[in-house]
Amino acid sequence: MCGIVGYIGHREAYPIILKGLKRLEYRGYDSAGVALYDGNTINLCKTKGKVEALETKVKTQIATKGTIGIGHTRWATHGVPNDTNSHPHVSNSGNLVIIHNGIIENYESLKKELIKRGYNFASDTDTEVLVNLIEDVQKNQNTKLGKAVQIALNQVIGAYAIAVFDKKKPNEIVTAKLGSPLAIGIGDNEFFIASDASPFIEYTNNAIYLEDEEMAIIRRGKDIKIRKIKNDSIVAPYIQQLQINLEQIEKGGYDHFMLKEIYEQPNAILDTFRGRLLSKDAIIKMAGIEDNMKKFLNAKRIIIVACGTSWHAGLVSEYTFENLTRTPVEVEYASEFRYRNPVINEDDIVIAISQSGETADTLAAIKLAKAKGAFVFGVCNVVGSSIAREAHAGAYTHAGPEIGVASTKAFTTQITVLTLIALRLARAKGTISSTDFRHHLIELELIPEKVKKALQSDAYIKVVSEIYKDSKNVLYLGRGYNFPVALEGALKLKEISYIHAEGYPAAEMKHGPIALIDENMPIVVIATKKGHYEKVVSNIQEIKSRKGKIIGIVTEGDTSVKDLADHVIEVPETLEPLTPLLTTIPLQLLSYHIAVMLNKNVDQPRNLAKSVTVE
Ligand code: G6P
Repeated sequence: MCGIVGYIGHREAYPIILKGLKRLEYRGYDSAGVALYDGNTINLCKTKGKVEALETKVKTQIATKGTIGIGHTRWATHGVPNDTNSHPHVSNSGNLVIIHNGIIENYESLKKELIKRGYNFASDTDTEVLVNLIEDVQKNQNTKLGKAVQIALNQVIGAYAIAVFDKKKPNEIVTAKLGSPLAIGIGDNEFFIASDASPFIEYTNNAIYLEDEEMAIIRRGKDIKIRKIKNDSIVAPYIQQLQINLEQIEKGGYDHFMLKEIYEQPNAILDTFRGRLLSKDAIIKMAGIEDNMKKFLNAKRIIIVACGTSWHAGLVSEYTFENLTRTPVEVEYASEFRYRNPVINEDDIVIAISQSGETADTLAAIKLAKAKGAFVFGVCNVVGSSIAREAHAGAYTHAGPEIGVASTKAFTTQITVLTLIALRLARAKGTISSTDFRHHLIELELIPEKVKKALQSDAYIKVVSEIYKDSKNVLYLGRGYNFPVALEGALKLKEISYIHAEGYPAAEMKHGPIALIDENMPIVVIATKKGHYEKVVSNIQEIKSRKGKIIGIVTEGDTSVKDLADHVIEVPETLEPLTPLLTTIPLQLLSYHIAVMLNKNVDQPRNLAKSVTVE
């Protein structure tokens, strides 16, 4: 998964591409490159490292003139991150230049053929194969670039979002998409190409999102022709008016996107239930549910598929759905589900949870579920994303763009949406009383204010972080609804501070992790009043007698845990199914501060990427 940017128009392309690449670094950041055409030559600059390193290299190595260009920020799949493997890639003749996000799965056999025909390859990438395949078609079949791209792509197996141009025809960029996202911004006599709209939102909010198996031929000063790659049929462009603005995308005064996104949670949760939760009328309105109510009511089982943090949100909602709707729920890692020949019935509902809506394993899992006749419901944050489009119906989380690689507001808004769905279904099924239903709605409406209150512990959490920042291992324990929160807290710490952390159901501690406990082991225990409080307090006692350091996440006013723990962080009281929305907050802040204190790259942790569009 990578970020791609392209420009063709009347302005200098380089500054637009550079800024665009910086905004797309969340998609991958192990190498970067740019290709600009100045009327004579293609000026190419590529480097291992971040876009900043590219910027420095460009200054000393190439001229940046030109009104057509493409750029790339990479997350390596084929070939290690180095200068040569970085994009753009140039064809053997030096005429064609390409950027690519995705994987060409059959690149090895294509490469062998091309080598037989005399082509040389400098890099280990699948992308260099593709650009030479296009060139080969162009030469042998004497076609225009668009046609050559189409013929070449019909030989390709895999996923791609590409942009390619030919220095002999510098008034045209050809783009195509299958599996990876591609947006085209339409300005005044100028066009922008990007993995999402952030690189061009300051120039235009008119955009076309290519569908899978579509290609676009973009001509300077003219129009865009969209065709189906398979059968060459013409597609009428659908131009959308985008509602996002740049400020939403940028850091808004915080040191890191992650911190900004943690603090955005009160509003993000509010946006999630805005217009859906009408507590005065005791109604939940969600079009995706209402339109398919019969399917939901007849469902024998709900299967939740997701990856990473979204999987944790799925685990929380397993408790919520089963408790409120009495429908059996299974939560599956999408990557396991897709390959284990799962039993899927036509009366199953598969809920796919994904912030980005682009996670390859989740997408494949829902394609499998659809093929087996299940009804697929998507819970995504990114509007118009692949999973949102592939699902039969869905509900957006409306959290706004999440840039920090470590997911925060996506998690709490996923839980919010899933709770709304569970409540709506419970009401329809009659598994919740009207009083209880109303009570849940009122409490849910109070959550944004309570999240704000939970955020007020930030300064104290910083103090606690300072004490434990040099730990080698941290254990997170929780029970019931808060067991998945323990998993999520441990994941957050691992992801951004590289400290080993494990989440465990509190009662399972005695079956293994207890052996690790000594005076050097910090243990974060979620021990809110609702749920299995007394049992968790007993677990805390067991830790205490082994001299473990206890950080308790407790309900406001708690005294029992305070007496036992080394530190307590309070969250407001709420109903049990809603506690994860509050207990998550201190865990996010704890991992954030520790990572900052350890001088780690909080928003772009090593080896990770925001959106994993490869399996
Ligand atoms: C990556 C991200 C995680 C995210 C996971 C699933 O690993 O770094 O933060 O939880 O993908 O992504 P999704 O977009 O499907 O929720």
